[in-house]
Amino acid sequence: RSGCTEIPVVVHVVWRVAAENISQAQIDSQIAVLNADYRKHNADVSSAPAPFAPLAADSRVVFKLATTDPNGNPTNGVTRTQTQVNGFSDDDAVKSAATGGANAWPRDQYLNIWVCKLGGGLLGYAQFPGGPANTDGVVILHSAFGTSGTAAAPFNLGRTATHEVGHWLNLRHIWGDDGDGCGGSDFVADTPNQAGPNFGAPAFPHVSCSNGPNGDMFMNYMDYVDDRAMVMFTTGQVTRMQAALDGPRSAIGH
Ligand code: ARG
Ligand code: ZN
Ligand code: CA
Repeated sequence: RSGCTEIPVVVHVVWRVAAENISQAQIDSQIAVLNADYRKHNADVSSAPAPFAPLAADSRVVFKLATTDPNGNPTNGVTRTQTQVNGFSDDDAVKSAATGGANAWPRDQYLNIWVCKLGGGLLGYAQFPGGPANTDGVVILHSAFGTSGTAAAPFNLGRTATHEVGHWLNLRHIWGDDGDGCGGSDFVADTPNQAGPNFGAPAFPHVSCSNGPNGDMFMNYMDYVDDRAMVMFTTGQVTRMQAALDGPRSAIGH
């Protein structure tokens, strides 16, 4: 499809102690980051190395906190649920009221984002298109969400949500999810073949899998580098996200 697609978002804040009940300002800061990153309006895209800069692309996806809830009533697009659970995992418990979380809103109308405490060093996780409806969406650690409040360096620039929503729109990890091998693929033609994930803030170039001289596109949102080091999606990734919006996610967005 041409033009922009606007995705209504519901943020489910699931909190045990007061600090986890993040502020509206912190939520708004995350929506602003998603909109900057997905429209290529992020100022730091200018830090992409010259050989990769021409591949940086506008995804044409826009995010807006929902203004109507599933019952047709006005909403600010945020639900707040107190829980007894001291740290969730990737088992989807946060997505159900029966297990101390909050139920999903219909995925054909909303992108569900759960924000909570996660254990085990997990920053977030996502469900790809085609999974069960009641667990559809992304989960983000509260201290890796947005740019203010409890957001903590080096994951305080909102890029965990940028990354996880990429998965929700069918993007794979840029290294092909094959451990450190060179045989995996992200099914995107304009991202270099890459061995394993990169972490921190690598120096350019970082060569693997004979991908020199430019090496890994570690500054891509679908790598594992720190927030300040990830700045772009590629044209090929945008094609893949748009295919998801025309296919398995065609019900959502206008
Ligand atoms: N699912 C990944 C993890 O939990 C998210 C990585 C996000 N990276 C980032 N720089 N924010 O490790
Ligand atoms: Zn990921
Ligand atoms: Ca690989």
